[in-house]
Amino acid sequence: AIDEHLIAVEAFKPANAEELEAFRLKYLGKKGILNDLFTQFKAVPNEEKKAFGQAVNRLKNAAESAVLRFKSELEEQKPLHSENDLSRPGDPIWMGSEHPVSIVRNEIVDIFKRVGFSVSEGPEIEDDWHNFSALNFPEEHPARDMQDTFFVHTDPDWALRTHTSSVQVREMERLETPIRIIAPGRVFRNEAISSRSHCIFHQIEGLYIDKNVSFADLKQTLLYFAREFFGADTKIRLRPSYFPFTEPSAEMDIWWGLETETDYRMTKGTGWLEVMGCGMVDPAVLEASGIDPNVYSGYAFGMGVERITMQRYNIPDIRMLFENDMRFLKQFKGTF
Ligand code: PHE
Repeated sequence: AIDEHLIAVEAFKPANAEELEAFRLKYLGKKGILNDLFTQFKAVPNEEKKAFGQAVNRLKNAAESAVLRFKSELEEQKPLHSENDLSRPGDPIWMGSEHPVSIVRNEIVDIFKRVGFSVSEGPEIEDDWHNFSALNFPEEHPARDMQDTFFVHTDPDWALRTHTSSVQVREMERLETPIRIIAPGRVFRNEAISSRSHCIFHQIEGLYIDKNVSFADLKQTLLYFAREFFGADTKIRLRPSYFPFTEPSAEMDIWWGLETETDYRMTKGTGWLEVMGCGMVDPAVLEASGIDPNVYSGYAFGMGVERITMQRYNIPDIRMLFENDMRFLKQFKGTF
């Protein structure tokens, strides 16, 4: 009987790993043939013990070497793309993409950096002085109603800043003249959320203070910006407006017309599009921040980043910029 097993073992050739494992269990497993034979050994008459033992050992060696040999053979036949193949190409990693508001903010900041503006930041929780009073918003003046404010702990002196103009004041207080800064940041207004407005959005503020700064300097800088950002033949228009902290004040519009050659336009239709507020810094504002209005003058401007982003990418609803829906965000991969 042992000889028959030996013949079977020597003839064995597995087709796959499962067959090899079945073979191993059949001969070498706990309840396998060899353990069975070792148990029988005790009952074998003494004079036959030697021959029986030798036959069992031959069978054991044959089974063990067959398992080892076929195991390494099957290993070699494994396909190249096994888990251990270090030459296998990696799985792609999702790299993410910049948010459209960040793309536009960075581009605008870069445009102003190229003509000597440096970047400033201020706190998002602001006191009344920096957000309103130093900017010439009189106490109880209806101008404060222009901006519905989120107060902190119902303390009238602390609020979430309603505009980045507060950074103008902080920098005029902190820096030596001349001052040429750009201040991007988040602002907050207690407004109903709709497709056109949100209670949180981003602004970019600009401020230039020096001797003999004129409205012509403001206009030329804004024309440069408009042509860099919207296209080389963009036309701008400055329309009289009102802000407590600038005098004179204006709104800048760009002509969103069909004749522009280099434009990023995706929306149909033409017309003047409002892009930002601006003006000459009011002498009272310079004075409040410790700058002598008889020696220095300056201009300031402020624009909403979401608005410009929506125009550039033809985004119909501002809320899409705050939802973090991957299907939306994925589309801006590679656009910067
Ligand atoms: N702070 C103004 C706003 O929030 C914009 C502005 C900034 C206007 C600087 C003039 C000068 O609308």
